[in-house]
Amino acid sequence: MRIEVTAGDITTTQVDGIIVSLCEDSKRDGVSTAAVVEVDRLLGGAIGSLLDSNGIKGKPNEVTVLHTLGRLPSKIVAICGLGKQGEVTIDRVRDAVAEGCRALRRLGCVSVGTTLVGAGTVGLSQADCAHAIAEGAVLGLYTFTRYRAPEGGDVNRVTLVVREQAVVDELATAVDGGAVLAEATNLARDMVNEPGNYMTPSRMAEIAQDVAARCGLGVTVLDKDDMVSMGMGALLGVAQGSAEPPKFIRLDYDGGGADSPRTALIGKAITFDSGGISIKPSEGLAEMKDDMAGGAAVIAAMSAIARMKLTSNVTGLIPATENLPGGRAFRPGDVLKSLSGKTIEIISTDAEGRLLLADAISYAINEGMSPLIDVATLTGACRVALGTIYSGVFSNNDDVAARFLEASFRSGERMWRMPLADEYRELNKSQIADIKNTGNRYGGAITAALFVSEFAGSTPWLHADIAGTSNSTKDSGVVVKGATGVPVRTLFEFVRGG
Ligand code: BES
Ligand code: MN
Ligand code: ZN
Repeated sequence: MRIEVTAGDITTTQVDGIIVSLCEDSKRDGVSTAAVVEVDRLLGGAIGSLLDSNGIKGKPNEVTVLHTLGRLPSKIVAICGLGKQGEVTIDRVRDAVAEGCRALRRLGCVSVGTTLVGAGTVGLSQADCAHAIAEGAVLGLYTFTRYRAPEGGDVNRVTLVVREQAVVDELATAVDGGAVLAEATNLARDMVNEPGNYMTPSRMAEIAQDVAARCGLGVTVLDKDDMVSMGMGALLGVAQGSAEPPKFIRLDYDGGGADSPRTALIGKAITFDSGGISIKPSEGLAEMKDDMAGGAAVIAAMSAIARMKLTSNVTGLIPATENLPGGRAFRPGDVLKSLSGKTIEIISTDAEGRLLLADAISYAINEGMSPLIDVATLTGACRVALGTIYSGVFSNNDDVAARFLEASFRSGERMWRMPLADEYRELNKSQIADIKNTGNRYGGAITAALFVSEFAGSTPWLHADIAGTSNSTKDSGVVVKGATGVPVRTLFEFVRGG
C-alpha cells in the first residue's frame, strides 16, 4: 500500500472514500474542522442533522459512513469520532484512522483520502498527527491471507490531504516514519500468524537474514553445535524434545559510537509450545504457535531501528526452539546447567521460556551489553493479572523502567509495571540445584520475572511479559484480530528515546 501527502481540498480529491473526524462535543455549530463543515454543506447538512439527532456522537472508535450519491467526487465519507475535545490523544488519532480505513475497505474503496485527523486539538502537532495517521492506516488495514482468499478488495493508496503546500515535505517525512513503524509491526504480525509448521526456528533465522540484508544489519545464527560448545544448557534442554534444530539468532546494529553502550533486545521464540513432558491441555493449544511473538517483535524492531537510522548501538538476540515431548525431551526433575554456570532444577517443562531467556541474558552480559530488555509470552498468570490490553513490565532499574513506560506511552502499546518482589524469591529456591524453574500457584508472572532477574544480576534489565497482549480476539482501532505485533513500536521508541 502506498501512502502519500498532497496539498489540496479533501472535498474535491479524486479518491473512492474520504476520512474526516469530529469530536464528541461538537454540535451543529461545532461541526468543528473546516473539512467537516464543507462536507456537511455539500451533503445538504446531513452531518449536522445526524449530530442533532445523536445519530453521530463522535465517540472514540465510532465510524459513520455516508454515501455521497454524486455530491462529492468520492463515493463514501467515513466520519470518525475522536471523543471529547479536551481528551484527544495521539492514540485516538491512530485508532480513528484505522477504523475509518477498515470501514471504507469494507465498502470496496481502493483509494482513500484523509484529512489531518487530530490536528488543531490541544497538544498535538501536525507532524505527530501525520505520523499517527500513517500508523493507523497501515496497522488498521493489516490482514493475513497467506492461506486463504481475501474477503474483499484491498486499499492500495492512502492520501493525506493538507491545505498548505508549505507543510507537505515535513508531513511526508512524518508519514514515512509512521509507515516504517507500522510495516515493522506488520512484519512481526506476519511471523506470529504463521503456523508452527512453517514458522520453525530455521525459518525465523532465514527471515532474520533477509531483514538483515534488506535493512543493513549484521547477522549471526548459532546452530546447536555452537550452543553446545558455548554451554547454553538451559536453551538446549528445551530443544532436546524436538526434531527441529534450535537457532540462536543475533542481529547487530551500529548506530552509536564504538565506545557507546550496546542495548540488547532479547525475544523469546518458542515456535510451538506444547508444554513438553508437562504437556498442556488440548484446549487452546493451537494458540501456542504464537509463543515466538517476543522473538518476532525483536526482529521487526531491529528492522525499524535500522531503517530509521537511530543513533544507538543495539543487538537483537532471539533464542529459538520448539518445546515438544519427543523421546529425548527434558523431564521434570532434570537439572540443567545454564550458560551462567547456575544449575536449574526443572519442575515443569512448560516453564521453558525463562530457560531461553536465562541463556540469552548470560550471552548478552558476556558480550558487555547493557541495558538488557527482554520480551516474552512468558506466563498465563500475566494475562490473568493484567488482561489482554496491558503487558506486564518488570525491572531491576527504575530509570530503565521509567524510560520504557514512557516509550510505551508514545507507542500507545499499554504497559503496567509490576513488582519484582524480593519477598517471593524464596519460591524459586531448589533443594538440589541453584534455582528451580517454577514458583507456586500464586504470583506466577512475578516468580517467572524473578527467575529471569537472577540471570541479569546487577546489569540494568527489563522484562516485558506479553502473554496477554500478543494476540487479539477482535479488531479494535490499530489492533486487528490475531497477532498484535506488540511491543515492536515500544522497543523502537525505547531505543530512539535513548
Ligand atoms: N508460553 C506459555 C505462556 C502463555 C500462556 C502464553 C498463555 C500465552 C498464553 C509459557 O511457556 C507457559 O507455559 N507458562 C506456564 C508457566 C507455568 C508452568 C509455571 C503457564 O503460564 O502456565
Ligand atoms: Mn510453556
Ligand atoms: Zn512458552
